[in-house]
Amino acid sequence: MQVDYILAKKRDGLALSKDEIEFLIKGFVSGEIPDYQMSAFLMATYIKGMNETETFELTKSMVESGKVIDLSSIDGVKVDKHSTGGVGDKTSLVLGPMLAAVGLKVAKMSGRGLGYTGGTLDKLESIPGFNVNLTRDQFVNQVDEIGIAIMGQTKEIDPADRKIYALRDVTATISSIPLIASSVMSKKVAGGADAIVLDVKAGSGAFMKTVDEARALAEALVSIGKRLGKQVVVVISNMDQPLGRTVGNAFEVEEAIDALAGYGSADLMELCYTLGSELMLKTGAAQTTEEAMSKLTDALESGKALDKFRQLIEWQGGDTGVIDNTRTLLPHARFVEDIEVVAEGYIHRISAEEIGVGARYLGAGRKRIGEAIDPGAGIFIAKKVGDYVRPGDTLAEMWSNDAHLLAVVRALVEEAFQIYDIPHEPPPLIYDVIK
Ligand code: URA
Repeated sequence: MQVDYILAKKRDGLALSKDEIEFLIKGFVSGEIPDYQMSAFLMATYIKGMNETETFELTKSMVESGKVIDLSSIDGVKVDKHSTGGVGDKTSLVLGPMLAAVGLKVAKMSGRGLGYTGGTLDKLESIPGFNVNLTRDQFVNQVDEIGIAIMGQTKEIDPADRKIYALRDVTATISSIPLIASSVMSKKVAGGADAIVLDVKAGSGAFMKTVDEARALAEALVSIGKRLGKQVVVVISNMDQPLGRTVGNAFEVEEAIDALAGYGSADLMELCYTLGSELMLKTGAAQTTEEAMSKLTDALESGKALDKFRQLIEWQGGDTGVIDNTRTLLPHARFVEDIEVVAEGYIHRISAEEIGVGARYLGAGRKRIGEAIDPGAGIFIAKKVGDYVRPGDTLAEMWSNDAHLLAVVRALVEEAFQIYDIPHEPPPLIYDVIK
């Protein structure tokens, strides 16, 4: 098979065969196909797209590039959750323990963020001692014993995605539906879960800027899941303003602990309940939405979900003291500055994108793979869209270990807030559910 022939086909908008896709992925992972040819393939795919069958074959080849975690020895329904990435999205830290508390087996492989802040792994690593590098056996055993484990993707799982993602990141080919769908689903399928709930974000802080784009991605994800024999449900949620009150790694862990203790912000909890109940309906863990909601509420109000989070921290070597001492045991940056309201009015917009970029400048995110992040840096959002504010009120707090950065980021965070003198209804958080 000739790589340049395959590239020409995709460049001209023709569909590739199963064998051609397999040949490309195998060749790229083994090193026989160089980065420059893969880059051309990614750009051609970005521009010309892929049909459903090609996207499925691409996903399957990516899964087959590495090992698949075998969870069949564990009784019960094994579930996983994934988000396409947003600003302030600490949902996994809250929803994972809630699902484990209602009896589902949460086997979650997570990534490090390449977005505005760290990913779930970076957030968990802000807990002193927390180990995300479990072996496959440790992972499977922990899911079996306590019903939840969260670990980093090992080198042997989906190596094709790791290599392709690194290239997409530097070739402006991230926001392509077949490339995102195959990247997400290949990792989830390799993770071994039976059922997966996916949170596809739409808005200024997301890859998919519009609900229509998000819906197209959701449909691609569900179609791949069906063909691969997985139960998949997708929730499309709003990412125009940051989720919850915090953006930054240790801050988000602190907010997740507060949420598990019953003090979560309305939007964060609405998203957790929606994702959780849809997954419970899909897997038969509940027959009706009311039943799912009542089980999830009980998990939270009885303290069982918080206990699951404590157990998760303990089993993965972290300091469980953080649960009761977030202020002293989680890292906080040294310098803090407030952004204050100048003229009274109602908040119409908080740009997730600008807050995300600001948080990354402050040290909460990384610009390149492998870069260190500052777990104690970030932004606290004091007011949300729809709130009435007066001069002197705090809109946000910026936290950094570099005082100079606070001055650099100030204008960005100020601009992120748009305040007008007419009242404004916040937009819906949940746009759609695709089953
Ligand atoms: N999340 C992923 O895992 N992959 C993508 O390509 C985009 C978001």
